[in-house]
Amino acid sequence: MKIAIYPGTFDPITYGHIDIIERAGEIFDKVIVMVAQNPGKQPLFSNSERVMMIKKVVSKYKNVEVDSYDGLLVEFAKRKKATAIVRGLRAISDFEYEFQMALMNRKLEDNITTVFLMPHEKYTYLNSSLVREIARLGGDVTEFIPPVVRQILSKKIKSLRK
Ligand code: COA
Repeated sequence: MKIAIYPGTFDPITYGHIDIIERAGEIFDKVIVMVAQNPGKQPLFSNSERVMMIKKVVSKYKNVEVDSYDGLLVEFAKRKKATAIVRGLRAISDFEYEFQMALMNRKLEDNITTVFLMPHEKYTYLNSSLVREIARLGGDVTEFIPPVVRQILSKKIKSLRK
């Protein structure tokens, strides 16, 4: 069974991430979406909130699971018997950072290969920070995140204003 891990911050999950999950699900027998720790980021949502949101939007894909992990990505991948890490490449600007991470992960664990998938071009400009910013400033994020995520994001923003 070919298992792939799709790691990320997912703060929150967007249609661009879902596009990658769908593509990975067609290639691999099982895809595990891993809510990871990026030490450079202070997420708006807790790990469990992000896992819950992702679970809600991927429940229709039978070969997709969701988990979170605070340690090294390659350790999680080994535990799950995965042989691939999936990352999305939206634009050439993603490349340098992704290249560095992929090579470092390969150095740490030679048996796990990073695979890059390109989301649909309509998502190339999308990222979670912009979605959070637009939502916080009262803009329309309908095109970027599923309705259930929109509801949770708007509730979170309201709770922060109190
Ligand atoms: N559609 C829309 N947005 C996308 C996207 C897509 N297909 N792919 C990436 N993005 C956006 C994300 O929303 C995110 O936006 P933000 O910066 O505004 O939050 C940004 O691009 C970065 O993507 P993400 O996939 O969340 O990457 P990251 O840099 O936050 O994650 C980890 C990096 C979590 C994978 C990395 O830190 C990690 O592996 N951590 C575990 C610990 C570890 O092993 N560290 C050693 C690594 S060598």
